[in-house]
Amino acid sequence: MSDSEEVKSKLDIVEVIREYVPVKAVGANFQAVCPFHNEKTPSFVISPDKQIWHCFGCSRGGDVFTFVMEKEGLSFVEALRLLAPKAGVTLKHENPEKFSKRSRILDIMEIAGKYYAHILKSVNGKVAKEYLVNRGLKEETIEDWRLGYSPDSWSSLYEFLKQRPLIGNKYSDEEIVAAGLAIKKEASGSSRGYYDRFRDRIMFPIWDVNNNIVAFTARVNPEKEKTEKMGKYINSPQTEIYDKSRILFALNKAKNAIRKLDFAIVVEGQMDAIACHNHGFANTVASSGTALTTEQITLIKRFTNNLALAFDMDSAGQMAADRGIKEALAQNMNLKVITLPYGKDPDDCLKNNPDDFKKAVEEASPMLDYYFGKISAGLDLNLLDNKISVRDKMFEMIDLVPNNSEQGYWLKKMSEELDFSEPDIREEFKKYQKAKKPDLNNAYNKNGKPEAPASKPLVREELLSELLLSLIIKFPEFIGYCLESLDPEQTYPLDNSRFYKTLIIYYNKSALFDYENFHKYLVENEAGLENLLDKLILLGEKDFYAHNHDEAKSEIIKIIVELKKYSYQKKIKQIEKAMLAAEREGNKEVGGGEKMERLMDELKSATDELKKLI
Ligand code: UTP
Ligand code: MN
Repeated sequence: MSDSEEVKSKLDIVEVIREYVPVKAVGANFQAVCPFHNEKTPSFVISPDKQIWHCFGCSRGGDVFTFVMEKEGLSFVEALRLLAPKAGVTLKHENPEKFSKRSRILDIMEIAGKYYAHILKSVNGKVAKEYLVNRGLKEETIEDWRLGYSPDSWSSLYEFLKQRPLIGNKYSDEEIVAAGLAIKKEASGSSRGYYDRFRDRIMFPIWDVNNNIVAFTARVNPEKEKTEKMGKYINSPQTEIYDKSRILFALNKAKNAIRKLDFAIVVEGQMDAIACHNHGFANTVASSGTALTTEQITLIKRFTNNLALAFDMDSAGQMAADRGIKEALAQNMNLKVITLPYGKDPDDCLKNNPDDFKKAVEEASPMLDYYFGKISAGLDLNLLDNKISVRDKMFEMIDLVPNNSEQGYWLKKMSEELDFSEPDIREEFKKYQKAKKPDLNNAYNKNGKPEAPASKPLVREELLSELLLSLIIKFPEFIGYCLESLDPEQTYPLDNSRFYKTLIIYYNKSALFDYENFHKYLVENEAGLENLLDKLILLGEKDFYAHNHDEAKSEIIKIIVELKKYSYQKKIKQIEKAMLAAEREGNKEVGGGEKMERLMDELKSATDELKKLI
């Protein structure tokens, strides 16, 4: 058994997922509100039997590894590393190549961190150290955050890394480049071919949630701050271990406090985050100067639903309507904006007067209030045009809030602020929503599902095809009947038809249906379709677990009729089109008349078939 198989067999997928979302037993399976998209009624299903999961809202699905990969933003190997201890499995490093590539990069980053910290303490780091101390950092803070200094030299880190691997072989140039620490020279003459990315800068390690150094951000030597062209901060590039949209600086240090206080403060800068922690705001993370991404929001949501942003006011204004913010609102997060006095950053503010910062945090305003202030600033709200433009911008944000009473609250507030009557503004809001969201294709839906599909809404034919396939898989005694009644082309779309066709071939060969066998058959013959099989199985479990044989039968018959209707209707349309074209060309060409004749026959038989069904 491979490492991953062993981990999988020893872990209970339900228990792993339960660490992320509450799950509820429903029949032999478990359901949850999907942790990957926003929904109210659970469409996320787990089968402990098959050790798989699927969400019918956003169509994600897979096994315990894919779950952890998606949820934590990890690669497969990282997920394996994370899950192995939970399963009590010691990894045998079975795939040393793939496995060690990442861990060697992590090791390189660790060594580099030690190296930079060491230089900061040496003579070469004297100026940098003094600068940090002058900015109010204590010795232990510098130690604790593992701050460092990259020497003013072209390749000292590179040479250091070449000398000493932590374990195993010497690090190759490729590995050092892959870690983002060295850059290959464009044209390497007589000199060496690589140089250090970070030179003469104060180094801040960036960790992932599990305390691994995955990147550095590097602040310019303060003496060169005015002349340096590269910018005040430069950062590690995206690497195999670092995806900047999925990292929040200091989350590793802040996560427990965030959980305990059920509240996170998000600042922009590394120095701001460190200053906040120093002043007891241990629930602070930094976005590293970019707008919040959806992945970062999801990361925070693991620990709390409440966050307050202490951003530079210009960027806060800009980002108020950013994707990440919208996503946070849509995920029903309680979002606030901290307005700092005199427009300073948190670090300045704390240095000036820590109480000011504390007060500002306590008085943070809800994002929508803040946004209203921002978009109406400088506008004369007595003018109708202005009122309407502000109202419409607010509608867009209010529409994101999934909670009805909260929406009501904001609509009421808008009516007061803009001096419109409340019923009028509610009416306008309804119109706005209607204009924005065309009625979702009201699909086969006796249970009132799907509620808020995060992916594209299913076409009815597609939904029916899925339901039918999942039903016959759950009740294989009807496969034979179905095969006789419905052709693969009468299912939709192509993947479902392909699946159905393969099922026919398989069934004709083995004359029975067995999940394990069919799964294997798909992997071997129609790779990719096995995922559809898992999805269909869970769909059957979810929607029909309570169905008995007879109910299933009548359902299957109904769906087959519906699908056939669709297919004949489609066929009739096609024939009509062809007839029109034939008519236009006239019966000039040889055999034109016969062609028309044939089309008429086809039309008649299709219409007859359709009539039989109605
Ligand atoms: P700021 O310009 O607000 O810097 O950028 P700061 O944190 O106040 O820096 P100090 O106090 O002068 O040392 C905020 C964050 O934006 C990112 C960095 O992560 C920084 O901490 N940034 C800024 C960059 O990535 N590159 C830049 O050139 C500037
Ligand atoms: Mn600053």
